[in-house]
Amino acid sequence: MTTPLIELRDIEKHFGAVIALAGVSLSVHPGECHCLLGDNGAGKSTFIKTMSGVHSPTKGSILVDGAETSFASTRDAIDAGIATVYQDLAMIPLMSVTRNFWMGREPKKRVGPFNFIDFGTANQVTMDEMAKMGIRLREPNQAVGTLSGGERQTVAIARAVHFGAKVLILDEPTSALGVRQTSNVLATIDKVRKKGIGVVFISHNVRHAMAVGDRFTVLNRGQTLGTAKRGEISPEELQELMAGGQELAELEGSLGGTV
Ligand SMILES: Nc1ncnc2c1ncn2[C@@H]1O[C@H](COP(=O)(O)OP(=O)(O)OP(=O)(O)O)[C@@H](O)[C@H]1O
Ligand SMILES: [Mg+2]
Repeated sequence: MTTPLIELRDIEKHFGAVIALAGVSLSVHPGECHCLLGDNGAGKSTFIKTMSGVHSPTKGSILVDGAETSFASTRDAIDAGIATVYQDLAMIPLMSVTRNFWMGREPKKRVGPFNFIDFGTANQVTMDEMAKMGIRLREPNQAVGTLSGGERQTVAIARAVHFGAKVLILDEPTSALGVRQTSNVLATIDKVRKKGIGVVFISHNVRHAMAVGDRFTVLNRGQTLGTAKRGEISPEELQELMAGGQELAELEGSLGGTV
């Protein structure tokens, strides 16, 4: 097996008296889609915020390409190739797809003593990157606010891929989408994975996770209930685990104690 792109070991996160994470471990390999499932308040967002440098863990270690590291800020995580697409997406609805894609990193061209944004190149790259993800933009000047939810997710994903993400973290990218939009986003995740990028896909929805996941980790009240590989667990078992694991003892056998 290859070295994981990123590995988190026994992560604990306390907020005062609240223990949001009580020892969670997860790794992501190149080209793997690792799904993180769990009910509301399970600790999913806290965990990926630890992975992306928003929070520093109270305890536990983070390894990037096998070497122990710590992220002092989101900048550190981004520099290490960890890109996160949050649910609110951090996009500006009134601005064009191109401006949202580049977000201040636009290519420049020099005319005499002046630097100008090279809109020709910026637009072309944006159109190309979106086309690679299966979305044909009518025109790159279209405001992001006029895109569908799925298309907006795709802009954020294409942007992360273009800027060199090694690990892409998606926090509930399909939760607000209809059936067709969802299958588009799932297809996009599959394309990203095939580029060798590791994906962490957070979801409430077992069917969405099952459609693209290679491994599944279930969180419950800040703890890992287990990690299962594709084919080792049925959707019903996964659903049951998420619901709180009443039949946990029964399921332990099928999970094989793998964490
Ligand atoms: N900044 C914070 N301060 C105090 N408690 C927090 C903070 N962030 C999260 N928590 C608590 O940690 C627990 C886990 O929250 P988290 O947002 O990680 O859950 P989640 O699995 O992402 O839930 P959801 O599915 O609703 O998004 C919750 O009990 C929450 O109230
Ligand atoms: Mg959350």
